[in-house]
Amino acid sequence: MITVNKENLPVHIGFIMDGNGRWAQKRGLPRKFGHREGAAAFRKIARYCKKIGIRYITFYAFSTENWSRPKDEIDELMKLFGEYIDEVSDYAEENTRLIFLGDKSAFGKEMADKMSELERNSRDFSDMTLMLAMNYGGRNDIVHAARQIAAMVENKEIRHTDVDESLISGLLYTGGIPDADLIIRPSGEKRLSNFLIWQSAYAELYFTDVLWPDFTPKELDKALEDFASRKRRFGGV
Ligand code: FPP
Repeated sequence: MITVNKENLPVHIGFIMDGNGRWAQKRGLPRKFGHREGAAAFRKIARYCKKIGIRYITFYAFSTENWSRPKDEIDELMKLFGEYIDEVSDYAEENTRLIFLGDKSAFGKEMADKMSELERNSRDFSDMTLMLAMNYGGRNDIVHAARQIAAMVENKEIRHTDVDESLISGLLYTGGIPDADLIIRPSGEKRLSNFLIWQSAYAELYFTDVLWPDFTPKELDKALEDFASRKRRFGGV
């Protein structure tokens, strides 16, 4: 169990769930089995974060670039998302708010409607906020905000001089959510891959060689201990 003091825990953690394919390949299994195990790891980590009092968690589940993967892999991921969405509809008692980051319309009307309904029904739940980045890209997030701003200027609701960081932050898919404090990427890759690029401007980055399906609460404890030992200066001294 975590030994870090509560005040040294990150408020918002972002997880890049990488390494599912390699996890499966190492076992001679098709990649989709890795995603299934990855989904199990996601559930365990989300539950653990709530237990230890993390307020905001974001998982990179499907990027705007992932549509170029083979059809059977995409089908499996859509199946896993669908199963999760149906499952969470049943646990309002969890008191967890759900937000989907990205353009939902790509998932078809039925699924997009369920996603919006979950967001609506959970909006007052306050123990934890769980964000799933699905059909998400950090640059696309900024473009989406920029278009809203352009429309506001065009409609003369604001002037160009009103555009500042807080206006942009508020119009991102994460509008109203604190910036990420810690980004965790397993599987040995050391990059952000277009995940929360605006929101992680001052985030601490944690990389580990463990593959996502093997990323257990114990691995998260290690990341949290490492985070607690870092000195965050936010550009100061
Ligand atoms: C990257 O690993 C992972 C993804 C593209 C998908 C992540 C999705 C899940 C873990 C399922 C989440 C499920 C729910 C219900 C939210 P990779 O396939 O690129 O792995 P590799 O780098 O080893 O090939």
